Amino acid sequence: MKQKSNSFFRIILNKSLVVIFATGLFVVNSYADDISSIKDKSLLLKPIKNLSDEQYDKFILGRSFFVIPWVEAPSATTARDGLGPLFNANTCVSCHPSNGRGTLYNKNMQFSRSLIAKLSLPSSSLLEHKEILKTSPLIVEPTYGGQVAINANHGVNFEAKPDIKYKEIEVKFPDGEIDRLLKPIYALKDLQYGELHKDTIITFRLAPSLNGLGYLEDISNEDILNNVDEFDKDNDGISGRANYVYSPITKKMELGRYSWKASTSSLKHQSADAAFNDMGLTTSFFPSDNCTKNQKACIEAPKARDLIDLTDERLDAISFYIKNRKTYSVKETKDYNAGLEIFKSISCAKCHINSFTTKSGVNISPFTDMLLHDMGEGLADGRSEFKANGNEWRTPPLWGLALHKSINKKSPRLLHDGRARTFQEAILWHDGEASGAKEKYMNLDKKSREKLIKFLNEV
Ligand code: HEC
Ligand code: HEC
Repeated sequence: MKQKSNSFFRIILNKSLVVIFATGLFVVNSYADDISSIKDKSLLLKPIKNLSDEQYDKFILGRSFFVIPWVEAPSATTARDGLGPLFNANTCVSCHPSNGRGTLYNKNMQFSRSLIAKLSLPSSSLLEHKEILKTSPLIVEPTYGGQVAINANHGVNFEAKPDIKYKEIEVKFPDGEIDRLLKPIYALKDLQYGELHKDTIITFRLAPSLNGLGYLEDISNEDILNNVDEFDKDNDGISGRANYVYSPITKKMELGRYSWKASTSSLKHQSADAAFNDMGLTTSFFPSDNCTKNQKACIEAPKARDLIDLTDERLDAISFYIKNRKTYSVKETKDYNAGLEIFKSISCAKCHINSFTTKSGVNISPFTDMLLHDMGEGLADGRSEFKANGNEWRTPPLWGLALHKSINKKSPRLLHDGRARTFQEAILWHDGEASGAKEKYMNLDKKSREKLIKFLNEV
């Protein structure tokens, strides 16, 4: 009898613990209102419902550090000084407009600041490299570092500007239709610190949309790992690998989730990384300025009064802010279901998975598996990041792309470097593990292709 009441008590205790845990860390979110299918350009800026007063304050604090411009030191606004010395933009929102995806070009038709050039060297089996790779995704270029800064504080030179040229490639469909793709040729111009190392690998990345990140963070590792098929045991030509990355937050190897190669493991990790690489803001996880030893003016530039620009409390607030915003997801209409049928029938949904249930029990349609896939030579950038190799990319979530037009008044440029002008171009670049899906798309009749593209425009 005693035994029984004890275990009865334990069950109650467990249940109440689960509830406390879920409401405390991430606001339980079974409210349909937090997922909207209305193409409202400010949707991704809005807080989810049912935040407590304290949580709402944290949200507002996080938002302020996300949207209000940071300034260089020394300055009267010590709360927000510490920008640079080298940086790409002075706010997070400049690259993620209205928390959506960045544009490729700005109003002056120059490459926008949402496009980032990253640099690395091939790694070798040298002991020195092995040591670095325990905690770093890759070996950075010795003079410029891992990312090219297009801006700098007074007295310090920026690093370089993007210089991508495009070559047109013609693609012919089995039914005679012709489409044209733009193949990018990567380069940099206006290099301010001399030549790049001769083996430098240059890659470009466009800022993705921040739609639905709270839900993606709330998918369990188990559910993601369920779809790994590294040696393609089911023989469908699609494998899917997990990235494992070093997190400076937990000081452990963790499942990679965010960025184009899934090289950061949590929204806090990604935010600390962005603060450091994109804005030159130090955190307790990246405590030194982002100057290389070959950049004297950068090293000697005036320092902010506080040692750490973005304190742990503020970094937490930023992560809280990006987690707890409303999400766009398409409504299930008759047209949607017809489009989804085609999407599934040509294997798109094998990587762009349309259904997950989060740990809090919310059903979501993010259209991603959060895993890495070899997408072939055409998309390869030769850059490894932790376990991701030079051919691999994380399946990007497709939800929320439909908001781009409302936010930016133009269609989104697609793929990691924004090379694709249309959904069809993006599909035609699919190769490697996705070559079967692409071929099936090309073999659809014109009407079905149009239906699929219409569907993608709504997702
Ligand atoms: C200069 C432009 C720029 C700035 C400033 C910037 N980002 Fe980003 N952001 C990017 C790019 C580019 C990526 C993709 C990086 C990659 O794949 O390597 C990205 C990726 C992300 C992601 C991952 C999204 C996903 O689905 O994988 C998050 C989250 C994010 N940024 C948050 C932030 C926060 C928070 C800040 C401010 C502290 C910030 N960003 C500042 C350009 C920027
Ligand atoms: C083997 C996995 C896989 C399959 C199958 C697949 N994709 Fe993808 N898809 C990816 C990856 C990985 C990327 C990112 C590639 C890059 O940016 O270089 C991507 C990118 C995209 C993009 C651009 C998204 C963005 O944010 O820029 C669209 C649109 C897309 N896929 C649609 C489709 C459609 C439609 C199909 C079916 C014809 C399909 N995909 C099949 C893995 C896949």
